[in-house]
Amino acid sequence: MLRASARLVAEGNRRAPMERIVYRHDGFTPESEARISLFDRGFLFGDAVYEVTAALDGRLIDEDLHLERLERSLSELEIPMPLPRAEIAGIQAELVARNGLKEGVVYLHVSRGAADRDFIWSEDLKPLLIGFTQTKIVRDSPSQREGIAVDLAPDPRWARRDVKTAMLLGQALAKRAARRRGFQEVWLVEEGEITEGASSTAWIVTREGRIVTRGNSWAVLPGCTRRAVLRLCAEQGLSFEERAFSPEEAQAAAEAFVTSATSFVTPVVRIGDEILGDGRPGPTTRRLQALYLEAVSKPEAAPA
Ligand SMILES: Cc1ncc(COP(=O)(O)O)c(C=O)c1O
Repeated sequence: MLRASARLVAEGNRRAPMERIVYRHDGFTPESEARISLFDRGFLFGDAVYEVTAALDGRLIDEDLHLERLERSLSELEIPMPLPRAEIAGIQAELVARNGLKEGVVYLHVSRGAADRDFIWSEDLKPLLIGFTQTKIVRDSPSQREGIAVDLAPDPRWARRDVKTAMLLGQALAKRAARRRGFQEVWLVEEGEITEGASSTAWIVTREGRIVTRGNSWAVLPGCTRRAVLRLCAEQGLSFEERAFSPEEAQAAAEAFVTSATSFVTPVVRIGDEILGDGRPGPTTRRLQALYLEAVSKPEAAPA
């Protein structure tokens, strides 16, 4: 049998992999040959963090913001950076190149490492870094064109949502329940206020035209796309506010949308049973969508 690595075929100067090339702490390898320990704490305890960055025309979007947040998430959990930031950026670039990724996403996961199962870890654990690509339409998807419906559900997550941990079971369960009920995303509710989407930042546009998203705290993940969009709002002189809002206020809003690295600015046209406006993406959302797309489509750089 041919080794998977021998099945790589030459295509011009670039090798087009027949199977995905992934990164696993000591190098690049075909996905079928990548192995991690059964005792990895990411698997046993969810003791891991991650990042996901969009790739467009082979370029990574808002990469600096994502690497900055990765470093912060790791430091909050006292997991050492597995490699310097520049080397991790190099690995991401290499993953994009080796997989010929034009449009899609790059995932990085870092776990505290592997050891005999014990809640208390030893300080000398070596963190495990893995990285992989997935193809995905991140620009001009049907959701971005037509908008999505979001469900409302109690927030089931732990208290430190500002850290991008790989403990995603709460989100996975909430998203699956919403999907079964015909929604594409779910906004999580705690003490009468929306925290955020299960995998996105929640925004509304009030009837007075103010753009509102919740302020950063332990209750929400500080979205990189949120940060980039807020900067665009400031640059364009659009009126915005960082504050919490209730499901009722959201359902009575003129417009709503979500942001994330993998969905950019995606309109929300229904929240629970309430259809917003005429059920079509609103003008402010369209404007921000176009501004963000324009910013990230410039070959030189994404907004930071
Ligand atoms: C819970 C949560 N909030 C917000 C976001 C948006 O963050 P970003 O714009 O950095 O992708 C995500 C993205 O995965 C998320 O999982």
